Parts: sequence; structure tokens; C-alpha cells
Amino acid sequence: MTERAAHSLLTSSPLPTARGAAIPPGMNRLQPPITFQRAVARWLLVCALMVALMVAVGGVTRLTESGLSIVKWNLISGTLPPLSDEAWQHEFDDYKSSPQFQKVNSDFTVADFQKIFWLEYIHRLIGRAIGLATFLPLLYFAARRALPRALLLRCAAIFLLIGAQGTVGWIMVASGLVDQPRVAPVKLAAHLLLAFSVFALMLWTRWQVLGIERSNLGACVATDSHSPRLPLLTRTALAFLTLQIFFGALVAGLRAGKTYNTWPLMDGRLVPTGLHTLDPWWLNHLENITTVQFQHRMLAMLVVAVIVVTIVMGWRHKNLHQLLRVILISILLQFTLGVATLLSVVNIALASAHQLVALFLVAVLLRLVYATPLPPNPQRK
Ligand code: HEM
Repeated sequence: MTERAAHSLLTSSPLPTARGAAIPPGMNRLQPPITFQRAVARWLLVCALMVALMVAVGGVTRLTESGLSIVKWNLISGTLPPLSDEAWQHEFDDYKSSPQFQKVNSDFTVADFQKIFWLEYIHRLIGRAIGLATFLPLLYFAARRALPRALLLRCAAIFLLIGAQGTVGWIMVASGLVDQPRVAPVKLAAHLLLAFSVFALMLWTRWQVLGIERSNLGACVATDSHSPRLPLLTRTALAFLTLQIFFGALVAGLRAGKTYNTWPLMDGRLVPTGLHTLDPWWLNHLENITTVQFQHRMLAMLVVAVIVVTIVMGWRHKNLHQLLRVILISILLQFTLGVATLLSVVNIALASAHQLVALFLVAVLLRLVYATPLPPNPQRK
């Protein structure tokens, strides 16, 4: 491992490269001209942080049962909240048509309604802000010809994914406005996973924009008889983590964390009864509270195990130590927060922290994947 590669793995600053007319080694096709690199990277970072904020506010919105308070989706006119008593009454009347009001909150007054309105309103407002924060600088950088074609396409794709996320969000909310006062868990999971994916894509693009070298570990581990599988292992760990996040969102969507509030046993048993009560069998993995919680608990242990093995395998590469330490602490914290969330019967602060550490884990594990590229495929030469 060269000093250059070690530097680029552990810091986010680009290496001081000698740039001549020819593209210097290590330069990738997503890198903008040097004068724009930092500005574009900062833009992507701000957008990623806004997505993280959006995830946090979305989590609290769900946990406080505020997410079904606004029963319409008006992209432009919904930007302003109700500004008069009459407008509040009108908004409240709309809410009265929802199953949440009719089945759960039928004793609500306008003042009660306002309490659940604001979080959902802020959540949607941040969504609009993310759309603008992505689109306007994209236009500016494109007009200044600061984005090479590949980067322009990538940023346009990110913008489209944000639009798709708004649509999935509305489809999710709409599923809670029909007869039952709760959204479809699979739609909640899709909404969460898409948010995590946009966040991940923004970070990955930022690293490429900064020209942070993907280390030569890929080539290095291929000849290293002790850890030839590290790049595959890091990708496997990320795949398991993604599945675990999907399962976690199902637990959240089904409110499955409000039952079986003991650990490690469920109802006094390691393997609970009632895992296969739904037909067809696969429905149990998506909608059976017992199965969904059980699989989230079990996969948690597998995720920890795969990540620990990855860390052990990667430890021989000194330049990875700092990153591996952060990953180890994060996964142990995440596991502990999961158990604490369960034992506290979904305390809002703990559940929120559990969600945010999952997002952080995605960031650091993705960075490890970035740092351990697969060795070049000789067949492609
Ligand atoms: C080790 C890796 C783990 C990861 C990556 C993970 C990830 C997640 C995610 C992304 C959610 C959805 C959060 C949301 O949408 O608000 C979630 C929910 C949940 N997780 Fe985990 N989890 C892990 C371990 C655990 C463990 C070990 C437990 C308990 C034994 C646990 C219990 C829960 C509970 C109860 C919820 C539902 C919380 C709610 O209703 O808001 N998790 N998890």
C-alpha cells in the first residue's frame, strides 16, 4: 500500500496530484475540472446531510404517529402551512376523512391536530428543500460546464431518484388512508431503502469527485494468500446490512417492536411459536409480527458476525485500521441500540438513534467497499 493510497483512504481531501494536459493516473471520468472539485463535493455532502436529516425527521414523524396527518399531496400549494383559523379548520376537516381520525383520534380538536401536523409538514418541507438543493446547483454547474458527461448523468440520476422518493413517500402515506390507520410495511421499507440508497449514491459520487483513490488493495489482496476474499467479503457485509435494514423497516412498519420485549428470548423461547401462521408461507416474512421480529433478531447476529470476520480479514492492511475501528464500534452500538429499543418498548429517542446509526453504518461500510475494489477481471482485457 502506497502512502498516497493510505492518505486517500483515511481523509476526504484529494491528493495533491501533478495535473498536466494528460489525465493523471487515478483521475476518473466523474472528476470535474480542479477549480470546481471542492464546490461540487461540498454540494454533494450538503445534499447527503440533508437526506440524513430527512431520515431522522421521518423516523420521529412515524414514531409520534404524525405521518398520516396531511391527507393530500400538493407539491406547490402544500409548501405553505395553514395561515388562518379558517385554513386550519379546512385542513382538519380533510384529516377527519382519514381512518386514523375515525378509528384512533376521533376525540381530536384542532389544537391536537396541529401537534401531529407540524412534524409531517416539516418532513415534506425538507423533501422539497432537498429537491431544490439538488436541482438548482445542478443547473448552475451544468451551465458553467463544470460537470463531465458521466457526472452530469449521475447527478441527474440522483435528482430523479429524489423525485421517485417523493412519489414512493406519497404512495406509502396513501396506503394508510384507505381503511386501516397504518401504512403498508413493505412500502415503508421501500421508502426507507430508497432514502438510504440516495444517501449512499451521493457519498460515493462525492468520493469519486474528490478523486479519492480507490486503493490498490484489490490488486494487492489478489496476491495475498491470507486475505484474497476481502473485497467480496466487504460486499457481502454490505448486502447483509441492506437486508437487515429492510427487515428493520418491516419491524417498524408492523410496530412489531411493541411485542416480545425481552432479549434474547421471545416469549420465553429462543425460537418462538407462531412463525408460520400466514398463507402463503412467504407472507410470514413480510407481515407476520413474530416472524419479522425473529428474522431481524437473527440476521442482526449474522450481520455482526460477517462484519467482525471482515474486520479480522482486513486488519492486516494498516491503512484500513481507522475505518475498521469505526465500523466495529458502530455495529456494536447498533446492536445494543436495537436491544435497548426493544426492551424499552420502542422509546422514541432510542428508536431514532437506532435508525440513524444504521445510516451511519451504511456510510462507513460503503467506504470500506470503495476502499477494497474487486481485482480487475482478466477476461475483460
Ligand atoms: C445489528 C444490526 C441492526 C441493524 C442494521 C438494524 C437496523 C434497523 C433499522 C434500519 C430499523 C428501521 C428503523 C426505522 O425505520 O425507524 C430497525 C428497527 C428496529 N430494530 Fe433493528 N437493526 C439491527 C439490530 C437490531 C437488534 C439486535 C434488535 C433487537 C434485538 C433490533 C430491534 C429493532 C426494533 C425493535 C425496531 C423497530 C423500531 C421502531 O419501531 O421504530 N434491531 N432496525
